[in-house]
Amino acid sequence: MDHFLYRNGVLHAEDVAIPEIAAQVGTPFYVYSTATLERHYRLFEEALRPLPHLVCFAIKSLSNVAVLKTLGNLGAGMDVVSGGEYLRARAAGVPGDHIVFSGVGKTRAEMRMALTGGIRQFNVESEPELLALSEVAASLGVTAPIAIRVNPDVDARTHEKIATGKKENKFGIPIARAPEVYAEAARLPGIEVVGIDVHIGSQLTELEPFEQAYLKVAELTRALRGAGHTIRRLDLGGGLGIPYERSNTAPPLPVEYGEVIKRTVGDLGCEIEIEPGRLISGNAGLLVTSVIYLKHGEGRDFLILDAAMNDLVRPSMYGAHHDIVPVVEPAPGEEPKAYDIVGPVCETGDTFARGRLMPPVGPGDMVAFRSAGAYGAVMASEYNTRPLVPEILVNGDQFAVIRARPSFDEIINRDSIPSWL
Ligand code: LLP
Repeated sequence: MDHFLYRNGVLHAEDVAIPEIAAQVGTPFYVYSTATLERHYRLFEEALRPLPHLVCFAIKSLSNVAVLKTLGNLGAGMDVVSGGEYLRARAAGVPGDHIVFSGVGKTRAEMRMALTGGIRQFNVESEPELLALSEVAASLGVTAPIAIRVNPDVDARTHEKIATGKKENKFGIPIARAPEVYAEAARLPGIEVVGIDVHIGSQLTELEPFEQAYLKVAELTRALRGAGHTIRRLDLGGGLGIPYERSNTAPPLPVEYGEVIKRTVGDLGCEIEIEPGRLISGNAGLLVTSVIYLKHGEGRDFLILDAAMNDLVRPSMYGAHHDIVPVVEPAPGEEPKAYDIVGPVCETGDTFARGRLMPPVGPGDMVAFRSAGAYGAVMASEYNTRPLVPEILVNGDQFAVIRARPSFDEIINRDSIPSWL
C-alpha cells in the first residue's frame, strides 16, 4: 500500500498534487511519501515483535539524508556498504550503535572511519577482510564487533544479477567453512565475535528460500555456541520483494516474513537484525516525467519521455517492470493504447517498456513510474550530461526539495582543464 492516489482526477503524493510539485521544480523528478516510508518501516517493526530486534534500513536503496532522518527518527538502524553511506547515516543523526557495515570490499580507511566514529557491527565477508579489520582495530587500540556473513548456498529464485546466496556468488564465506573461520576470528586480537550474518538476495517473492537459509543459520548458531563462541545477534539480511505490477499476485507480507523468522531462529535467544531496503523505500517513491513527443514509428507508437535510462536504470539493466500511469486520470471509457515508452538517450537500451498498454497521452502530459523509490535515484548517472533528477519529500500537505537539480554550470565546472590545454 502507498500514498499515491488520484483525487479529483489528479495523482497526489499524500495531500500534494503532483502538478503542483512539477510547477515548482519541473520534470523529471523523484517524489517520496513520508507516510509510506514510515508505514513500511513499522510493518517490519511489528512483524518482529516480541523478539529483541533492530530493523536496519538498507540505505543503498534510497540514501537521501532526509529519508534517512525520517526513518532514523522512528528508531531505525541503518545498513551501510561504504564510507560514504556511513557518513550519510551519521549526517542524518543515526548513532553509530545503530549502524551495521556490510559489503565485500571494505577498505582499511572505511574500517577506521567506522571504528573511530562508532559502529554496531561489521558484517565480514572473507578471511582477508577479517585479518585487515583485526589489524586496523588493534592499531586503534579497540576491538571490532563482527558477524561473519555466511553463504548458505540457497537459491533465492530471483533475477540472477541480484541473487547473492548461491555458492558461486561473491558474497560471504561458505557455510561449511564457518566453524574454521569463527575459530580464527576468536584468536584475532582486534576482533569480537557477536553474531552471524546472512543475506541471500533481493526482490524475493517467496518465503521458502528465507526459511531454508534461516534454518541453516539456526543450526550453525547451535554448532558455534557448542564450540564456545558467543552468538548473541543474527543479522538476517534484506530481500523481501514488492509488487511491481499491480495486476500480479503480491509477494508475502512482512508479517508473514516475521513468522518465518520466529519459526526458524526465534528460540535461540538472539537479538534479530534485518536489512530491508526495497520494501521500505520502493513503493514510497515515484519518478514523474513529461511526454516530449509522440512519434509514430513502423507499426508502433513511441512515447518519448524527458526521463531516461540514466534516471531510472532498472528497466534497461534488469528488464524490470515499473507500472507507468498518467498524472491526470483518464476519463472513464478511454480505450488504452500500446506504446513503446522510451527516453531521449542515444541507445536502444533506453527503453522503459515495449507495447505497454496505457490510457492515451500526448506531448506535455505527465506520467509517473510507480515503485521507483528503491534503486531509482541512487543508481542515476549524468550520462549524456543529463542533470541528476531532483528529489522531493512529501509529508501530508507539505513538500520540500531534498536534493535540487544541479545546474549545467555546476556539472560542467566539476571538470577541470589541465594547464597544457
Ligand atoms: N543487505 C545486503 C547485504 C544487500 O546486499 C542488500 C541489497 C540489502 C540488504 C537490501 O536488499 P532489499 O531489501 O532492498 O532487497 N539494484 C538492484 C537491487 C540490488 C540489491 C543489492 N543488495 C535492483 O534495482 O533491483
